[in-house]
Amino acid sequence: MRQLRKNMFAYETLPQECKDCIDENGAGGEQYSHPFNLKDYNEATGVMRAQPSQVYLFTGNRCNLACETCDSTFSDKHTEVFPERVIPVEGELLDPMAIARKFSPKQWVVYGGEPFIYENIYELTLMLLQKPGIVSFLTNGMYNVKTHPVFQDMILPNHKKFSVCFSVDGDAALNEKIRIGASTKRILANAKICAEKGVTTDIHYTHSSLNSHGFVDFCKMLLDEGMYDYPFSINTCPVEFPEAFSPKGLPNEEKRRVIEQVSDFMKEDIPEDMLVASRNIISSLQYRQVGDIL
Ligand SMILES: C[S@@+](CC[C@H](N)C(=O)[O-])C[C@H]1O[C@@H](n2cnc3c(N)ncnc32)[C@H](O)[C@@H]1O
Ligand code: SF4
Repeated sequence: MRQLRKNMFAYETLPQECKDCIDENGAGGEQYSHPFNLKDYNEATGVMRAQPSQVYLFTGNRCNLACETCDSTFSDKHTEVFPERVIPVEGELLDPMAIARKFSPKQWVVYGGEPFIYENIYELTLMLLQKPGIVSFLTNGMYNVKTHPVFQDMILPNHKKFSVCFSVDGDAALNEKIRIGASTKRILANAKICAEKGVTTDIHYTHSSLNSHGFVDFCKMLLDEGMYDYPFSINTCPVEFPEAFSPKGLPNEEKRRVIEQVSDFMKEDIPEDMLVASRNIISSLQYRQVGDIL
């Protein structure tokens, strides 16, 4: 097993396409992985001495929204809206503060549930502010950045240290249908303030069977709302689980229709990040699984 692990760290078990991606030579994709230095691996003990480059801090399942596709189906809001989907959870949350104390990665990713309703979010953010590494939040954006103490005291004044990724899954009508309880207007207003203050700001479109057809309208909304007057970018990723919400499960005819619609949109004069996101939407519909690409 240790030899296998060593091979994995040396990428010897990976197909060339994956190696290319890790080395950032892939087809323009984002780099999600980082090479390990084999010198840090002790084959005799199986211990990897290096710090992880990224640490994800889960702030628990509490959330003020109940999004249709959410894989955190045990969130308390889901309990109200989708009681039939609730998964019983036992035991205590692994304390994200205790985990944060142990590491010094290049990047922290704080997510939940909704991180900004986590009871210790102020203390956690303060601790991360005092440690090295940039801090990225994934959030539903349902608060007021102008009054939220974490934004006012830490994120906005230290904009180089933080990035905030707001989730929006369609134009206002579709987003609010999927992300039950959301206000698109409020989320975009918050994203504008963050971007204006120099915080690295993303809008994230979770591509599912429920919004495949709505990607172009989502882009048009961002253009109409003047989001591109601010330095922000969009990104997308497809739902894999629950499978019922995966765009891969759409009928071929629907996939073809969306691919055509998005391809036509790409011929228009649109921003570079929108072009990349459009390509991502198309590729999630073209391939059933990673193995098909290789
Ligand atoms: C689980 S949420 C947690 C952070 C925050 N509550 C939010 O909505 O951004 C993180 C991201 O996962 C996305 N997401 C929701 N359901 C998903 C699923 N089934 N598969 C993949 N991503 C999903 C959300 O849209 C969001 O962008
Ligand atoms: S806001 Fe985030 S955590 Fe909450 S239900 Fe939606 S996707 Fe899930």
